[in-house]
Amino acid sequence: MTADSVRSWKIGSLQLSNPLLLAPLSGISDLPFRLLAKEQGCALVCTEMVSAEGLMRNRKKSEKLLQTCPEERPLAVQIFGARPETMADAARIVEEVGADVLDINMGCPARKVVKGGSGAALLMDLKRAKKIIQSVRKAVSLPLTVKVRSGWDEKNQNVLEVSKMAEDCGVNALTVHGRTRNQGYGVKADWRIIARTKEYLHIPVIGNGDLTSPQAVVAFLSETGCAGAMIGRGALGNPWIFQQALAMLRGETFHIPSLSDKEVIILRHLNMVVERYGETQGLKEFRKHIIWYTRGLRDNAYFRSRLPHWKTVSEVSGQIREYFQKMNHLLLFS
Ligand SMILES: Cc1cc2nc3c(=O)[nH]c(=O)nc-3n(C[C@H](O)[C@H](O)[C@H](O)COP(=O)(O)O)c2cc1C
Repeated sequence: MTADSVRSWKIGSLQLSNPLLLAPLSGISDLPFRLLAKEQGCALVCTEMVSAEGLMRNRKKSEKLLQTCPEERPLAVQIFGARPETMADAARIVEEVGADVLDINMGCPARKVVKGGSGAALLMDLKRAKKIIQSVRKAVSLPLTVKVRSGWDEKNQNVLEVSKMAEDCGVNALTVHGRTRNQGYGVKADWRIIARTKEYLHIPVIGNGDLTSPQAVVAFLSETGCAGAMIGRGALGNPWIFQQALAMLRGETFHIPSLSDKEVIILRHLNMVVERYGETQGLKEFRKHIIWYTRGLRDNAYFRSRLPHWKTVSEVSGQIREYFQKMNHLLLFS
């Protein structure tokens, strides 16, 4: 692939500068995480899924999930729900708060979501899915996307039917995660079914599933011809994946973050999280990120085991600095 591979494209009226998107990740893709992805070149970031019912019942609480800032824009907000009227009301709120894209979740496999008739359950209830998309489409003029899995299970891989229905209802782009609901995250994502969906539709298709390295992103885009590549777990503890994939798409060699690069980003991420949630909750939130950031580093088990004992930001920052100093020292003298 060449420089041409980093094309700008559109979701409805929204122009995007490159094919890379950050996946909605429940409990993870909050404002600090999205800002870091954005800084590394991601074209469109997305909130975690927000319950339409929750948004209507307790707007204040759910609205925290919708908070944004100019630096992360454009922003997609994802909602989920089973009732067309509630989804339309929630969509209006999302438009009011200034999101750039509205995304409907039709792929979440979690039992409690599916039991309520939303998420991936909509793949098996196309009548309801259609009503939801139509009501939301009528309610807002925002660019609208839908995120689906390839089907409910291997016998019901109906992504072509679902996506055509969504396109006919006026959706501006469609994201396909190349696994069925029943496959969870265990098996390899099927990029061929994403490519088939791309061939079948007129609207842009965004592919998702196992884009965990810059090489995978380049291979995916060249194999499928999709307009967008959505990165989820590959960005955990690794915001650099976006600039690395962009460099590779441009035919350039990509930068591998040094220990010092990592230390700088971890400390900044920590401060952003604490600023957003306060010290106690912020430190709790941040533990998972430290674990992801230190994947593959020496002596990480001992460092990670100490995490619950550190109670203040300055203690945690100090321990991070000390750990990285030790790693740098080992690198110099090994
Ligand atoms: C912890 C976690 C939370 C997720 N939360 C959401 C979500 O809120 N909405 C959604 O549509 N998908 C969600 N997903 C699915 C991801 O967006 C993505 O489709 C999936 O991880 C496959 O992409 P990947 O292989 O790049 O991770 C979640 C996945 C994980 C692992």
